[in-house]
Amino acid sequence: MSNIIIEAKGIKKTYKSDKKEKVEVLKGVDIAIEKGELLCIMGPSGVGKTTLLYILSTLELPDQGKVLYNLNGEIFEVQKKSNDELALLRNKKIGFVFQFHHLLPEFSAIENVALPLLIGGINEKEAKIKAKKLLTDLELGHRLDSRASELSGGEQQRVAIARAIINNPDVVFADEPTGNLDTNSTKNVLELIINLQKQLGITFVIATHSNEVASIADRIAHMIDGKIVEIKRKS
Ligand SMILES: Nc1ncnc2c1ncn2[C@@H]1O[C@H](COP(=O)(O)OP(=O)(O)O)[C@@H](O)[C@H]1O
Ligand SMILES: [Mg+2]
Repeated sequence: MSNIIIEAKGIKKTYKSDKKEKVEVLKGVDIAIEKGELLCIMGPSGVGKTTLLYILSTLELPDQGKVLYNLNGEIFEVQKKSNDELALLRNKKIGFVFQFHHLLPEFSAIENVALPLLIGGINEKEAKIKAKKLLTDLELGHRLDSRASELSGGEQQRVAIARAIINNPDVVFADEPTGNLDTNSTKNVLELIINLQKQLGITFVIATHSNEVASIADRIAHMIDGKIVEIKRKS
């Protein structure tokens, strides 16, 4: 799997609803994510896109099937790693732009972006210097000390992307990254994602139901009824 960064095989996931009914969300998903690609996972609301992102990104384990990572010449199965090893993997190698990974509203843009560095053990001064440089590179230099809650939706999402890439991850997972944005901010965020993919070689896996987001994908995986039914490569 030399050109593959993540491979999922036979992924099944069932949730119990409040009434104790079981809902089989993923019914056997197979997918191989190529190094450096921008892959969009598309499908109607409720089909299991977010659940699949959680499992691919190691935040949740599947009930059946396995997830393999191929990083720095090492191939390993996510299920065989300890929680501590997975936490380290997520901090160092994986970026998240997820709805539940909101920015801390009372913290400044710099503080939000510096946080993964601090968690990774870098001292505060160095972390802030790095965060400032990245935000400036991403054309947010005028917003460094603004609280996250004072930023526009598009700015917040770009800060969230900065936070996701501050540790130079190999792969970034994004869940509906333009979900709440207007046309102009959507354009800015998509341009930023394309640049990061092309210039830094970061692999992106994006769940979306937006055709505009899908337009920047190298490949689009369509989900129906808990499965990926088709993967199309754009020419
Ligand atoms: N933690 C959970 N507990 C119970 N049901 C869940 C949980 N997470 C997701 N579901 C259910 O799984 C289905 C798929 O959800 P989700 O993965 O969020 O789909 P999508 O992102 O495609 O809209 C939905 O029916 C949702 O209600
Ligand atoms: Mg979702």
